[in-house]
Amino acid sequence: MSQKEVLRLEGIDFDYGSQQVLEDIHLHVEAGSFLGLVGPNGSGKSTMMKLILGLMKPDRGEVSLFGTPVQSFKDWSRIGYVSQKANSFNSGFPATVFEVVSMGLYGKIGLFRFITKKHRQKVREAVAQVGMSDYLNRSIGQLSGGQQQRVFIARALVSEPDLLILDEPTVGVDAQSVQNFYQLLKSLNQDNGITLILVTHDIGAMTDYVTDVACLNKCLHFHGGRQEFEDNQDTMMQRMYGTDVHVLDHNHDHDHHHHHHDHDDIKELQR
Ligand SMILES: Nc1ncnc2c1ncn2[C@@H]1O[C@H](COP(=O)(O)OP(=O)(O)O)[C@@H](O)[C@H]1O
Ligand SMILES: [Mg+2]
Repeated sequence: MSQKEVLRLEGIDFDYGSQQVLEDIHLHVEAGSFLGLVGPNGSGKSTMMKLILGLMKPDRGEVSLFGTPVQSFKDWSRIGYVSQKANSFNSGFPATVFEVVSMGLYGKIGLFRFITKKHRQKVREAVAQVGMSDYLNRSIGQLSGGQQQRVFIARALVSEPDLLILDEPTVGVDAQSVQNFYQLLKSLNQDNGITLILVTHDIGAMTDYVTDVACLNKCLHFHGGRQEFEDNQDTMMQRMYGTDVHVLDHNHDHDHHHHHHDHDDIKELQR
């Protein structure tokens, strides 16, 4: 492997019993890149992330992190993960921003150790990185979805990861906040040198920010630079989302398209 290799998937197959979800996936991610992984709902994106995080085993093939096969990889503080459901704390959840971000240190210091002055400083730095310093002592449940999502990024940043994986982090976040959020990710990538994988079904909003794009729908239909993706976007969309992708729009009669299970994603893509 090259020194710069962060992640490699070699010939990955995976199924949940009957249904083949991933087929012969080859992917490599170099240090310093910002990869957008896109695909419709049910295309296997979250499954791929769980395999990368070693939460499940592939039926065939190998996942490596920083050159080490995932089954023997130990250095998990190098990897931050923010899941799809992270921003769903209800308004009564009894933890402050400071406390939630501190949880990101438990991997390093152990759950029952005291947090030292140095750790507190790291928490404050991570919160500042995501622009949430004014909210340090606010209760997490009282923040907007976009603000909560920033806090979860801070929690992932506090252990100073080299690779940050975000699985649909902007579900339920309004469009303006999504743009600001992607801008934050871009600066973490460019200014802090963190390698990023952003998983999303919303292609339109992310292409301005990423360096590379991978398109997944069971197989990997494309993996390359952003420019190459934009040059081939129409072909790619047809392959992944079907031939009627161009005739759909926001105002059409939904009943005519009930047969199309990727329907909602197509609408997203056309925004
Ligand atoms: N725990 C599970 N058991 C059985 N099937 C699952 C499970 N998780 C996901 N699936 C199925 O696997 C496919 C891929 O799911 P997923 O990886 O969550 O897709 P995505 O994240 O792209 O929406 C879907 O058809 C989904 O229904
Ligand atoms: Mg998913």
